[in-house]
Amino acid sequence: MKARFDADGDVLIITGGANGIGAALAGAYAAAGGTVAVFDVRRGADHPSGRVHHYLVDVSDRDRVLAAVAEVRAEHGRIDALVAGAAVQPRVNVLEMDPGQWRRALAVNLDGVLWCVQAVLPQMLSRQSGVILVFGSGLGSAGHPGASAYAASKAALVAFAKSLAAEVATDRIRVNAVFPGVVDTAQFRAANPPGGERERWERSTGIGVAEDVVGPLLFLLSPAAAMTGSVLTRERAFSAGDLS
Ligand SMILES: NC(=O)c1ccc[n+]([C@@H]2O[C@H](COP(=O)([O-])OP(=O)(O)OC[C@H]3O[C@@H](n4cnc5c(N)ncnc54)[C@H](O)[C@@H]3O)[C@@H](O)[C@H]2O)c1
Repeated sequence: MKARFDADGDVLIITGGANGIGAALAGAYAAAGGTVAVFDVRRGADHPSGRVHHYLVDVSDRDRVLAAVAEVRAEHGRIDALVAGAAVQPRVNVLEMDPGQWRRALAVNLDGVLWCVQAVLPQMLSRQSGVILVFGSGLGSAGHPGASAYAASKAALVAFAKSLAAEVATDRIRVNAVFPGVVDTAQFRAANPPGGERERWERSTGIGVAEDVVGPLLFLLSPAAAMTGSVLTRERAFSAGDLS
């Protein structure tokens, strides 16, 4: 995608940015002149610009999140934006769910967002500037068999984002949620084996690729997005490449 967005030296933390949508955003943001700190349990690919930096962080570990955010501030000076994308999606029916599976999904998908927000917000408040994006999901409103923990966490994240947006509305900090649509990533493939539901999605909405979500995310990160407490829903799998 041709970059029409200027990150202008800004510093962005992307959790879960080693793969999928987060990795596509990391590349685009760095290509647009920004610095990216990827927090992930896996190491992602380097970027030719040298502006994508990798930190091994399990977002459910509050102490590690606080330490990594301090490292980013020490190394890059400030944090302009947080995109909280790290998530896990266990597929297990309610009756078979063991406490560990339930706790892990909420610890990564929900607690992890709180720890990251608590770590970056104080300096955003002191600078009176910042952008925070979280990922909801259509499954969080529609529900899905076997996806109760994931869906519950994603529904809760929308309420969290709206409440946080209201708390910081007068501090020039924007907080929004994104529903990326159905996107072919490792998480999607693991949760949806070929056939069945995946085939239905292919026929009805189409399945996008990670790069398709980059434009909507860059828009929300840009000053053009004079909106907060909102949900941007990318309903169908239009590919940016098809529109140019
Ligand atoms: N792909 C879709 O169709 C879709 C649809 C709706 C919402 N989403 C959401 O979009 C976001 C990105 O998803 P994706 O499809 O690109 O997934 P992905 O699996 O490609 O990437 C998720 C990343 O999170 C990382 N991660 C997992 N646990 C972590 C932890 N404890 N700490 C740090 N990192 C951790 C993984 O290593 C991975 O790099 C997620 O929040 C997902 O729920 C995706």
